Amino acid sequence: MSTGSQPPLLYPPYASTVRRAPARPLIRLPHNFSDFAAPVYGYRDVAEVDADLTCQHAGEPLGERIVVSGRVLDEDGRPVRRTLVELWQSNAAGRYRHAIDDHPAPLDPNFSGAGRTITDDDGQYRFLTIKPGAYPWRNHHNAWRPAHIHFSLFGESFLSRLVTQMYFPGDPLLARDPVFQSIADAGARESLISRFDLDLTEPEWALGYRFDIVLRGPRSTPFEDRT
Ligand SMILES: [Fe+2]
Repeated sequence: MSTGSQPPLLYPPYASTVRRAPARPLIRLPHNFSDFAAPVYGYRDVAEVDADLTCQHAGEPLGERIVVSGRVLDEDGRPVRRTLVELWQSNAAGRYRHAIDDHPAPLDPNFSGAGRTITDDDGQYRFLTIKPGAYPWRNHHNAWRPAHIHFSLFGESFLSRLVTQMYFPGDPLLARDPVFQSIADAGARESLISRFDLDLTEPEWALGYRFDIVLRGPRSTPFEDRT
């Protein structure tokens, strides 16, 4: 992993890191066998509908339909097969369906904003969803998060959960976002921006964005919880 490719735990411009960053040195806990038992997630198997956030309710959600797809890779570029990929996001108006989200933008009764899928034999995943909206977050005066989708991945075990955010190309808010800017390395920041992809785009249906995720190594995607 190159220096500056992962965000530091403490990055004062991103105000909440000041409160949550550890004030004392980290203690490494030894792993034991039970740490690596198979993950148990959710109450039911992952279904096809979980990857299509536009058909989880009676009607269609409002907003711009998008396909988000890519590959999950290890440090040597090999596909990570049959791994769980989860995402969550705001709706098109920039509002989460969550009790603590008090942004005065409308909720969409047809959009939960949560999805999950399993990568195929080529490490590919694919979601159909709605482009999320930017939202304010009170970090500093007139602070707005660029449109983003949160991703969670599980590598080999439940304990190796990795969480990151995917952004959209050309977003003017990226240059002003302390979460995005907390990653010092420009190349690593760039790896969090999805690519518009006409091959993924479905005619008369949805724009396509490609987002590959590298779990480890020098080209690792920046993750929020890696130290
Ligand atoms: Fe968010």
